[in-house]
Amino acid sequence: TPVFPFHGEHQSGILTPAPAGKQNASCFAAFDVTAAGRAELTELMKTLTVRARALTAGGPPPDLGVGEPPADSAVLGPDIPADGLTVTTGVGASLFDQRFGLADRKPAHLTPMRTFPDDSPDPAWMHGDLLIQFCAHNPDTVHHAIRDITRHTRGALQLRWKIQGYNSPARPSGTGRNLLGFKDGTANPVGSKASELIWVDSLDEPAWTKGGTYQVVRLIRMLVEFWDRVSIAEQENMFGRRRESGAPLDGTKETDIPNFAADPDSTVTPAKAHIRLANPRTPETDNQQLLRRSYNYDLGIDPNGNMSAGHIFTCFQQDIQRQFETIQTRLAGEPLTDYVQPFGGGYFFTLPGVRDDRDWYARTLL
Ligand code: HEM
Repeated sequence: TPVFPFHGEHQSGILTPAPAGKQNASCFAAFDVTAAGRAELTELMKTLTVRARALTAGGPPPDLGVGEPPADSAVLGPDIPADGLTVTTGVGASLFDQRFGLADRKPAHLTPMRTFPDDSPDPAWMHGDLLIQFCAHNPDTVHHAIRDITRHTRGALQLRWKIQGYNSPARPSGTGRNLLGFKDGTANPVGSKASELIWVDSLDEPAWTKGGTYQVVRLIRMLVEFWDRVSIAEQENMFGRRRESGAPLDGTKETDIPNFAADPDSTVTPAKAHIRLANPRTPETDNQQLLRRSYNYDLGIDPNGNMSAGHIFTCFQQDIQRQFETIQTRLAGEPLTDYVQPFGGGYFFTLPGVRDDRDWYARTLL
């Protein structure tokens, strides 16, 4: 039985809680669809659904008999554990080009990811027809899942880029920390507020999109050697939070809510602090909030011997322009930009949930 449900109105892996200690392993895999035509695309979506359903449920793989390659890689042993796996599938703007005749069904806010002023774009790490986000309690579960899916979709899907992520347990308490040493995820919206901000259900959208959401992925390198030479006070002013506790600069606990209105001259929290720009906490900016669900990555070293590590920033929202792009535009030129380098990612529409055993990904689209 799955730890997190596979069937439902919405996909898992979005509001699925990922507090410190849960679903600490992930993989973000972007694919080009090589299926020819609508019928093959439909077959692909059905195969993906069958595999995601089986992998998230766990259980022993079928015995295909003597002389056949085994049905499963056995990376997780003979009886596959569910291990908190979620498989979350989305489509990119390029899927709606002329290949499948879907141009008139494109979600209203889906475009290719824009390049922003401080970006260092690397085409090898950008975009994709399809994005699958895998999250689980252990990294071998994530590896096993993507290996199973690529095996079952050969000829119809080609990996374009993929990156593994990990999160920390509480250090020592509260929300997990990112690789700059700060607690990350503290001020996420929760409960009905989060639902109102993310699920698509609008007359401005094609009807098939109901129950889906938009996912933005940004691969952001952190210049960690450079960061480690900055004083704690300067680091805290860049974020607008304390490094040790995660408290806002006008509070004492991580859970304290900052009150920027009481600090109009920015004497406590700098005007360009990350949290103040990201969420000014005014009535006009309230519907710009989004749901973040980011991971750390580590890709070894670059040719100069510097660490190639950073942040797989990912967020979910109802409207990429109203939410992510508005915030990203406000963040342009923030002091943190000297220490980070966005180089990849993409915009995707995360499909509505698979309702039951007979339903499949993108049924309402295809
Ligand atoms: C808050 C780190 C990029 C949007 C925060 C916090 C940290 C952080 C430490 C404070 C704790 C929290 O509430 O989670 C980073 C790092 C980034 C990055 C290291 C890049 C490497 C972005 C991007 C966006 C963004 C690209 C969106 C465009 C937000 C939002 C908040 C936040 C909305 C919550 C603000 C609030 O409600 O108080 N980030 N962030 N961040 N960040 Fe980022």
